[in-house]
Amino acid sequence: DTYKVGYFVGSLSSKSVNRELAKALLRLAPKDLEFTEIPIGNLPLYSPDHDASYPPEAVALKDAIRQVDAVLFVTPEYNRSIPGALKNAIDWASRPWGQNSFDHIPAGVIGASIGQIGTAVAQQSLRAVLSFCNARQMTAPEAYMQYTPEIFPGNGEVADESTKAFLTNYMAEFRDHVVRVLTVLPRQAA
Ligand code: FNR
Repeated sequence: DTYKVGYFVGSLSSKSVNRELAKALLRLAPKDLEFTEIPIGNLPLYSPDHDASYPPEAVALKDAIRQVDAVLFVTPEYNRSIPGALKNAIDWASRPWGQNSFDHIPAGVIGASIGQIGTAVAQQSLRAVLSFCNARQMTAPEAYMQYTPEIFPGNGEVADESTKAFLTNYMAEFRDHVVRVLTVLPRQAA
């Protein structure tokens, strides 16, 4: 079996270090995980006024989540929380009321910062949001990554062996978490 994972990069930066982390995670992940990025940069700002008729970008977002078995959030920390663009995407996906795309979905949270706290505070904030959205989060291991160009030289490479081993283990644990959740809560057919 293979498992489809939709991943969100919480940054819209063309030089995003979190996109670099996402590339590394894809390379180090178990081979039975299949990844698709779920884009967030094209979404308008959410308003309940849209609930009666979602715009095509938001319909595509909800379709993309429906088509995957699990989601992985790779996000920066902005002002000790998550970027507004990511929160906006989550708000879209959680609505209209009664059609929450994240209900029971297996989910993982990880992020990189140039600072030493490694997105820890943003991840706590994201976890609170995902809890309310009823996602089934992997709670351990946690991964608070400090980005340096020496460790992440580009193209998803990880130059430091202990970081590589840590991220490989994180993705193996994520895979096991996804399988465990799906055993109890199979995803409905798209
Ligand atoms: C930051 N940055 C930052 N870093 C951090 O560790 N904690 C924080 O609260 C913040 N706050 C913050 C706010 C805003 C508006 C910006 C633009 C940046 C720095 C941040 O870690 C750095 O810009 C990373 O490069 C962001 O990740 P991406 O976009 O490169 O993936």
